[in-house]
Amino acid sequence: MLSLNKNHTEIDLIQVNATALNIIRLDQNDPFVCGNKWLKLSLNITDQHERYATFGGPHSNHLHAFSYACKLLNKPHFVFVRGIGPKDTPTLIDIQNNQGQIIRLSKKDYAQKHDTQMQQRWQNLYGDMAFIPEGGDNELAKQGCQKWFSSLNLPDNAIVGVSIGTGCTFTGFARALKQNQTLVGLPAFYAHQPMIDELLASDTKGTLKILNAQNHERFAKMDDQQLNQMLAFEDQHKILLEPVYTGKTLFRLVEHYSKQESRPIYFIHTGGLQGRRATL
Ligand SMILES: Cc1ncc(COP(=O)(O)O)c(C=O)c1O
Repeated sequence: MLSLNKNHTEIDLIQVNATALNIIRLDQNDPFVCGNKWLKLSLNITDQHERYATFGGPHSNHLHAFSYACKLLNKPHFVFVRGIGPKDTPTLIDIQNNQGQIIRLSKKDYAQKHDTQMQQRWQNLYGDMAFIPEGGDNELAKQGCQKWFSSLNLPDNAIVGVSIGTGCTFTGFARALKQNQTLVGLPAFYAHQPMIDELLASDTKGTLKILNAQNHERFAKMDDQQLNQMLAFEDQHKILLEPVYTGKTLFRLVEHYSKQESRPIYFIHTGGLQGRRATL
C-alpha cells in the first residue's frame, strides 16, 4: 500500500500582500506522487489487483501520479489518453519510462470511458485491469483525503482553501472538517451552479464556501496578469506553483480574505508541479 514518504506535512507561514497565509506543503511529500494525488491514490492502488488503468488528458497530473504510484508498487498499468492528435507530452514520456502502456482514444471513445461495456471490451483486448475514474474521483479517493485532513489537526477556527477540479478532494476534506472550521473550495475554472450546489451539499460538520473563478476563466488557461502574479510570488517566496490549479486559486483566496481576518488562513498546496513543463 502507498504511504506518505513524510509523516509530517510542512506548513510555511508567509505574508501575501495584507494576508498572513499558512501554506500546507503537500507538494513536498513526494517528488513524483505529490500533492493531493497521494491522498486520492493511496487506497485505490493496492495489492488487491494485478493491473490498474485510468483516464486523462495528455498533460494530466492524475495520469502522471497514477503511473508513478503503480511503478512504486510494481503494478503493470494502462493509461487511456483523451485525443489521438497530440504528440508525446512530457507527462506521457514519463509514463512510458515507467513502463506504463498508453492507449490513445478518439474524443468519441473517450466520452464512453466510464461505460462498463466499453471497459469490458478493453479488458478483452488488453487483459484484466482495475479501472480508476478520470481525475481519480471515487469513494476511496475521498476516504484518503478525509483521513489525511483529520490527521492534520488544524486549529478549531481555521479557514482552509483548496483548489477544485472534480471536487473529490474538497468533498473528502469536508467530511473531516470540525464545527468551527471553514473549507473554501476554489474551482480552477468557472464552475456552473449545479456543480457548486453539489459541492456545498457535501457531508460536513463545518462550514463550506465556494469562491468561484470569473465567468470568462477557462480550465488550464491563464492570462498574462495571472502568469506574472504567479511568477512574482514564486520569486519572492521560493515556492513553486503551477498554472492550472494553485497558481490561479491561491490569489483568489488571498484577495477574498485580505481584510484583516482574525482567523488563521490555510492554503493546501495540492502539487501538480509536473504540469509546469507544458506551459512555462
Ligand atoms: C494540482 C491539483 N490541485 C487540485 C486538483 C483538484 O483535485 P480534485 O479533482 O480532487 O478536485 C487537481 C486535480 O486532481 C490537481 O492536479
